[in-house]
Amino acid sequence: MDFKLSNEQKLIRDSARDFANTELLPGVIERDEKQEFPTSQIKKMGEMGFLGMMVNPKYGGGGMDTISYVLAMEEISKIDASCSVIMSVNNSLVCWGIEQYGNEEQKKKYLYHLATGNILGAFCLSEPEAGSDATSQRTTAIEQDNYYLLNGTKNWITNGKSASIYLVIAQTDVAKGHKGINAFIVEKEWDGVTVGQKENKLGIRASDTTSIMFSDVKVPKENRIGEDGFGFKFAMKTLAGGRIGIASQALGIASGAYELSLKYSRERKAFGKEIYKHQAIAFKLADMATQIDCGRLLCLKAAWEKDNMIDYTQSSSIAKLYCAEHAMKITTEAVQIHGGYGFVKEYHVERLMRDAKITQIYEGTSEIQKIVISRSILK
Ligand code: CAA
Repeated sequence: MDFKLSNEQKLIRDSARDFANTELLPGVIERDEKQEFPTSQIKKMGEMGFLGMMVNPKYGGGGMDTISYVLAMEEISKIDASCSVIMSVNNSLVCWGIEQYGNEEQKKKYLYHLATGNILGAFCLSEPEAGSDATSQRTTAIEQDNYYLLNGTKNWITNGKSASIYLVIAQTDVAKGHKGINAFIVEKEWDGVTVGQKENKLGIRASDTTSIMFSDVKVPKENRIGEDGFGFKFAMKTLAGGRIGIASQALGIASGAYELSLKYSRERKAFGKEIYKHQAIAFKLADMATQIDCGRLLCLKAAWEKDNMIDYTQSSSIAKLYCAEHAMKITTEAVQIHGGYGFVKEYHVERLMRDAKITQIYEGTSEIQKIVISRSILK
């Protein structure tokens, strides 16, 4: 087994690290506090190729592997998890979903703009009453002459306001249950699309999370993705890759908090010596390092499976479960190591702790990952 990264993968990791430190770190506290969308930062991320990393270059993407994507996600997330969730949704849900399952016309029309970061996309699955229980879709898309008439409300949509296109999962035939669900590409500017208020969140506050309302939106038939009834499987398959993105986001949040804790414990003195020289702190750092190493290996394994066409449904859920749970633990310990300073904004760890929480919730809660994992191991 070869654990060595290629020179190209190292280059991508290092350029993501440099970019995060020079372009994302300045103002990250203020953007979080004011819930200010990182417009100029996201534009630069598009120019750097971070918004369509794995997309084939013929559609404007970077043609990179999933391992490179994990490495970049970790580095961006260490500094700014609001930017990394925008990146993750655009890369692994929207671009991947269209590239993998869209037809050539859909790719030509939408993928290039998404992969280059000219526009952002959003993934609309959750509803006010269908979060974890994704088969209970209430949004309907009823087939008419040459279009589907879309009605319903989607909730908790990352990039809700900033996106120009939405991948919308909707029920086209209620009697067929999950086999009567389809996925559609919907443009924000179409009549009947309304964007709700930006949610005032605990973490990832600079990213825009909104509800989206669809009222008699006419979706051309050519905007349906895949065969009739493929929508639920489309959502599940796309989410499996999305979970690698969120696992690496959680990993980055944790390793960001760990690196800050390491630095602080070398600078801060108590009882006559630097605090890392106290075993109480050294053991916390050892635990953090161990858990981060495990999480990184799980993310890279899931990414490697995806790159090698091996079913990654189980490994992506394991990576997400582990990294999200440990991001919460590690960031909480980071605040503890920083003491009172950890409780104020200037030291970043309180933000990382708040950002960590959502990784246990979105793209399937930790409990949902356990459903996916247990079904996979018990089947
Ligand atoms: N790949 C392919 N097919 C799959 C699949 C997968 N990973 N998972 C399920 N399916 C198929 C099943 O095989 C089944 O098809 P058949 O009947 O033909 O065999 C069908 O889908 C229904 O599957 P289940 O019976 O397992 O469905 P379920 O109702 O029990 O739900 C679940 C399964 C795993 C709990 C699913 O509902 C789920 O993942 N829920 C969580 C939803 C989620 O992650 N939401 C996140 C929102 S997106 C987001 O957060 C983005 C953002 O903005 C950050």
